[in-house]
Amino acid sequence: MTRPILAIETSCDETAAAVLAATGDPDRPWAMLSSVVASQSELHRSWGGVVPELASRQHVRDLCGVVDAALVKAGVSPADLSALAVTQGPGLVGSLLVGVAFAKAFAWAQGVPVIPVHHLAGHIESLVLAHGEMPLPAAVLVVSGGHTSLYFIPEKGRYHLVGRTRDDAAGEAYDKVAKLLGLGYPGGPAIDRAAREGNERAHDFPAARLTHADRNDPQPTAPDGMLPADVARRVDFSFSGLKTAVLRLVRDLTGAPQEGKAAGTGAFAAALTPQQVADISASFQRVVVSALLDRTFEAARWLEARSVGIAGGVSANSRLRAEAESRGVRLGIPVFVPPLSLSTDNAAMIGAAALRKLEAGASGDYDFNADPSLPLNQ
Ligand code: KG4
Ligand code: ZN
Repeated sequence: MTRPILAIETSCDETAAAVLAATGDPDRPWAMLSSVVASQSELHRSWGGVVPELASRQHVRDLCGVVDAALVKAGVSPADLSALAVTQGPGLVGSLLVGVAFAKAFAWAQGVPVIPVHHLAGHIESLVLAHGEMPLPAAVLVVSGGHTSLYFIPEKGRYHLVGRTRDDAAGEAYDKVAKLLGLGYPGGPAIDRAAREGNERAHDFPAARLTHADRNDPQPTAPDGMLPADVARRVDFSFSGLKTAVLRLVRDLTGAPQEGKAAGTGAFAAALTPQQVADISASFQRVVVSALLDRTFEAARWLEARSVGIAGGVSANSRLRAEAESRGVRLGIPVFVPPLSLSTDNAAMIGAAALRKLEAGASGDYDFNADPSLPLNQ
C-alpha cells in the first residue's frame, strides 16, 4: 500500500473527509481506510432546501472535527500523508471555498500537494472504489440533487458527457414533488418510502421524450458522431413537465387554487390522504426511473458499453437499483451501483478520483480555485 491521501468534500450540505491509499492491485486499485460524513440535512430541513449561507458556515464549524475523526479512524497522522484531495467544483461556491481553503492550508503546512477533483468524477469513481475496475467502455449515469448526466467512459480516467438534463435534475424533481406532497426534505428517501405503499399505475404522468432540439441550446449533448443524431437527442433528460403534472394533480385533488404559488409549497398537502400520497409517489417514481434507465441503457447499447454504472444520491433509490439490476440481467450487461454509504455525497469518492488522477501522472498544486460550474468532459 502506498502512503495515504486525505480527501475533503464540502460542495453542498455534507461535510466529509476520508483517508485512502493505492493498493497496487490493478483490479481493486484503491482502499478506503476511513470515511466520515457530517450531514447538514437537519439544519436545512425547516427551510425546505439547502440555504447556501448556512451551509458554508456549518462547513467551517464541522470540518476540523470531521478531518480529525477521519485521520484517527484510519490510524494515520498528518505527517503520513502524501497528498490532499478536494472537490474543486461544481457546487455552492461558499461551501466549495471552505474545503478548498482548508485543503490548501493543511497541505501547505505538511509540504504535500493538493489534487483538485471534479465532484462528478468522484461519483463515477465511487463505483470503482466499491466494486473494483468496471469492464470498459462503460456508460455511467450520475444522478443527484444537482445533476443528471450520462457519461461514456472509453478508458480509465476519461469522461465524455453524452446526455444531461435540460431543466431539473432528477433529485431536484424528487425534492420538489416531496415538498408538494408534504413529505419534507430531503425528498428522495421520503418518496422512496411512501411509494412502497402506493399503486404505481394510479396516475399516468407524462414521460418527456426529447424529440425536438432545445431552442436555447439546439445541439444535443453528445459530441458529433458519437451517437446517431436522433439517439443523441433522445438521451438528454427533462423532468420539469413531470413536476408540473404532479402539481396540477395535487391542485385538482385538494381544491387548491390553480393560480398562485401557494399550492406548490405543500400548504395543501394535508388535504391528501396517505394513500393518495403513496399513489402519487409511486406513479411519479415509475416515470422517473424508466426515463433514467431507458436513456442509460439505450446509450449503452449504441456505445457498445461492456458495463453500466449508476452513481450519485438518487442511486440510493430502491426502485432504481432493483430495476437497473433486472434490466442488466435481461440484457446481459453488468450493472454497478455504489453501496448506500457511497451513493450520497462523501469524501471517499473524491479520494478515489484523486488517486485516478495521480495514476495518470497528475502532480497537484495550490494554484487552482473553487469553481461552482466546473465542467467535466475530457
Ligand atoms: O449526490 P447527492 O448527495 O448530492 C448532490 O450532489 O446533489 O444527492 C442528493 C439527492 C437529493 O436530491 C435526494 O433527494 C436524492 O439525492 N436522494 C434520493 C434518495 N436518497 C437521496 N432520491 C431518490 N431516492 C432515494 N432513496
Ligand atoms: Zn453529489
